[in-house]
Amino acid sequence: EVERTFSIIKPDAVTRNLIGSILQRLESNGLSVVASKMIRLDREQAEGFYAEHKGRDFYEPLIEYMISAPVIVQVLQGEDAITVNRRVMGVTDPAKAEEGTIRADFALSVRENSVHGSDSVASAEREIAYFFAPEELCERD
Ligand code: CMP
Repeated sequence: EVERTFSIIKPDAVTRNLIGSILQRLESNGLSVVASKMIRLDREQAEGFYAEHKGRDFYEPLIEYMISAPVIVQVLQGEDAITVNRRVMGVTDPAKAEEGTIRADFALSVRENSVHGSDSVASAEREIAYFFAPEELCERD
């Protein structure tokens, strides 16, 4: 089934000029960009986005990191986009990620892990709506 998922190219990747390398991995695995923008998150936006993690020990440093430099927020579309994106990213901790995944190859640490991807249809819908108005999503085949 054709799905949409939400993706972030995170500060550690943007600052190291890895946007193109990461998009190459995503696009070559059948994920098409249907919306994209570069933004510098403010604290309120970052805290709202990661509200489910509030209270965890990694929450504050995560927020500081996410506002430390610009990010690319984007919507990816493709067959089973949510699952495909998660497979191409690899697991959260780059030390545990399979070789050939974005996180294994590019991420610096479990926090500075280069990319975010929605983990379910419900999160994808929430996360897309958090950053994009419906009319900002482009129709693609
Ligand atoms: P993400 O997939 O964006 O979802 C939550 C983020 O919190 C995660 O990627 C990491 O950037 C960060 N994170 C998750 N677990 C840890 C952890 N144990 N230590 C530090 N950062 C974490």
